[in-house]
Amino acid sequence: MDPRKVLLSPIKIGNRTCPNRFFMQAMECNDADTEGNPTDLTYQRYENLFRGQSGMVSLEAITITDKSRSRKNQLTIMPRNIKPLTNFVQKMKEINPETVFIFQLTHSGELSKSDFSRKVCIKPLPGYGGDVLSEEELDRIMEEFVLSAKIAYEAGADGIDLKLCHGYLGSQILRPYNDRPWKYGGSWENRRQFAFDLFERIKREVNDSNFLIGAKISAWEGFPGGFGTAGSDSPVIDLTEPIDLIKGLEERGASFFIQSAGSPSITISLTQVDKRAPYFAYLHPTFSKAFRDNLKPETVVIGSNYSVYRDGKNGLFAVEDSSLLTVAAKNILNGVTDMIGLGRQSLADPLLPLKLSEGREEEINYCTLCDNCLELLIQQSQIGCSTYNKYYTEVLVNTRQEKGKLKVSHT
Ligand SMILES: Cc1cc2nc3c(=O)[nH]c(=O)nc-3n(C[C@H](O)[C@H](O)[C@H](O)COP(=O)(O)O)c2cc1C
Repeated sequence: MDPRKVLLSPIKIGNRTCPNRFFMQAMECNDADTEGNPTDLTYQRYENLFRGQSGMVSLEAITITDKSRSRKNQLTIMPRNIKPLTNFVQKMKEINPETVFIFQLTHSGELSKSDFSRKVCIKPLPGYGGDVLSEEELDRIMEEFVLSAKIAYEAGADGIDLKLCHGYLGSQILRPYNDRPWKYGGSWENRRQFAFDLFERIKREVNDSNFLIGAKISAWEGFPGGFGTAGSDSPVIDLTEPIDLIKGLEERGASFFIQSAGSPSITISLTQVDKRAPYFAYLHPTFSKAFRDNLKPETVVIGSNYSVYRDGKNGLFAVEDSSLLTVAAKNILNGVTDMIGLGRQSLADPLLPLKLSEGREEEINYCTLCDNCLELLIQQSQIGCSTYNKYYTEVLVNTRQEKGKLKVSHT
């Protein structure tokens, strides 16, 4: 098997074609200006990704209102942001018109920060919580999601990813823990309705079959009552609801799904597998294959947690070749996933697909899994790779001087 052949082969998503199998994951980097518009730093990051010739790039989690931010300098998608976002998309398309560009739309819910945002929740989780949302408020949030999808379309994005993962509002509604007796809670039929209605409305109101819609989903949040468990306080994994969700969204026009797991403020090592237990990465193919097996062949599945494999020096044993490129190609060939999502690796080397296509594999900078990027994220600093990019080494040093060193695994 030649991994290059597999990974550099094109794939269709809806009416679009991605030139290769690499998907650069949404990675919030907290460097927008005070209006939530892209700054020079934001431009630099995405210009590199587009130069790197990825098949598809996701714009990081972009907040649908000022009030729903989890990062102080988060990108924002409100009517005031149309022009700057249009210029941004235009610039990226000038650099590389082949790469498919989607926006990840989000509302942070109970992960919104009360010092600069409004912390709200569906049903307070012990240690989390916030103002409990009324039906009217959630209906208004649906309007705001629909409006932000229309703005993404107007700005020239090729599609959107509705963030239904990682403990943000989209996943809080879905989880069995939401047993609150209301329109959007209790039975699975009620909990899934927000996502179903949202997809239907966006499909209808954008009304362009070229515009892609999809979702990033934590198939298993990893704590009792989280999405992908068997009940409101059950620790047992049960994928019945996640599978029903993706099938229902596919019926409503979704053409891709990004598989994830965990809810990082609670179960961080499931979302970002770390070097203390790299074998947690083996959970993810089970979830992406469950997605793959239950969808139409033309619906694209994107698997997560490939950064851990690196160049094979990864602490994973009993496998002949566990390097990223080999594992990724094998998983595509074996029907485990269609595309390969790269998160931390995309910060370490945004040029990976280009280097691969030019036969320069030995020049790839592999993510070291130091997780300094996560530390910067949690500390609300600007985010980037402190290992390979000197600017972010300095940001890290300054952040630690100001706030002390943070042990990421204990947050
Ligand atoms: C600094 C940082 C920012 C992230 N931002 C987002 C985000 O905006 N949206 C999202 O869905 N996931 C986000 N993630 C999770 C990644 O997209 C990805 O799912 C996760 O890191 C696992 O992939 P990896 O092993 O390739 O890093 C972020 C992760 C990190 C480390």
